Amino acid sequence: MNRSGAPDALKQRFAELFQEDGQLIRMIFSARRRKSLEYSKVTIRPVQLSGRRMYQAEYTFDKKVTHENLSAEAALAKAVTLVREDFKQVNVFTASEDIQILASKPEKARFTTRPATRAMPALAHNRTKQYIIPDGRPCDFLIRLGVMDQSGKVIQRHYSKFRQINRYLEIVEDVFPALPEDKRLKIIDFGCGKAYLTFALYYYLKIVKNRDVDIIGLDLKKDVIAFCSKIASDLHYDGLQFLMGDIADYTEDHADMVVTLHACDTATDYALINAVSWHAPVILSVPCCQHELFSQIRNDLHQPMLKYGILKDRLTEYLTDGLRGLKLEAAGYDVAMIEFTSLEHTARNIMIKAVLPRRPDPSKAAAAQREYEALRDFYQVKPSIEKLGALEVTR
Ligand SMILES: C[S@@+](CC[C@H](N)C(=O)[O-])C[C@H]1O[C@@H](n2cnc3c(N)ncnc32)[C@H](O)[C@@H]1O
Repeated sequence: MNRSGAPDALKQRFAELFQEDGQLIRMIFSARRRKSLEYSKVTIRPVQLSGRRMYQAEYTFDKKVTHENLSAEAALAKAVTLVREDFKQVNVFTASEDIQILASKPEKARFTTRPATRAMPALAHNRTKQYIIPDGRPCDFLIRLGVMDQSGKVIQRHYSKFRQINRYLEIVEDVFPALPEDKRLKIIDFGCGKAYLTFALYYYLKIVKNRDVDIIGLDLKKDVIAFCSKIASDLHYDGLQFLMGDIADYTEDHADMVVTLHACDTATDYALINAVSWHAPVILSVPCCQHELFSQIRNDLHQPMLKYGILKDRLTEYLTDGLRGLKLEAAGYDVAMIEFTSLEHTARNIMIKAVLPRRPDPSKAAAAQREYEALRDFYQVKPSIEKLGALEVTR
């Protein structure tokens, strides 16, 4: 069937599609009105978020894909604007019909309908996981690091690394609002290793979020630094720099975010101490190899349990990170311990996420310091994080 409609007819038709009991499967906006438009395609589809029917708009840019979740009203307004300002064609798939809208002139949009070609999928946001970097879309650093092939398909044996990178970016997305808004960001990744996650961080902030950034990846290993520097230079990732050095000796005066992922044993403590001394607003740390306290722990009550090495090992891990968390709270940070990667990928899967609030609460910080001291004394340990000296809780 072929018919034409005025702009209000278009709005009316869209309004029906976004109704609560709507049959909409997805609508795809294409054929840009002007070449300068940054995105080449937008797809809107219904999703279920926290039990609510919402709509997700997916914007396809040259090198990235971004998502925006919208209420029905906002999705309707967005759809109308996309036709009026950005795109000349819309393909709508519903459970009952497919509709093609040709709108070179929005006021003379032409509708063509034909029987439905797509079945209604179950409405679940994460049924097929929406990754920040999606599988199937070429991403330069992932291709270069061998995680994707040239066509953008994730290579099967690297899928867990791909998931870990995306999980990491979800966490970065979560803390992004805590970063300063109006300046070039400075970030240090201590113990960056082969830097999959450092490259991902740069890609997310610079390419997806369009922020000016200076990121330094620091590592002890010369070959790793040479490897990463070459890739950054080949990809023209200006602002991403790799330096050889020891975390404990690193002297700088400032960072907006400090990252330390799987830096061994007390290397994590030095990274945290640096971050706090710079009042870094965001710290992301995944500790590993927490050995320092193993030989120190003494506790008469727990001694019968601690004769089992594996239990003492686990307790050492939790105690070390618990004390680190409390020390960060004592320095004024809001601290959460979250899961980073699934256990089948690595057992080292706890991330310390610390964000410095605009106005840290001195009484909360003092209480955390008391808790820290009580726990430290209960097990008679002296952890390296203790070097995090007198506390400043102002920002
Ligand atoms: C297990 S790798 C983790 C690499 C990367 N951050 C990741 O999570 O994929 C740990 C890295 O930390 C580096 N490292 C350990 N102690 C360090 C120190 N004191 N200073 C600088 N780098 C350190 C090691 O050389 C190694 O490359």
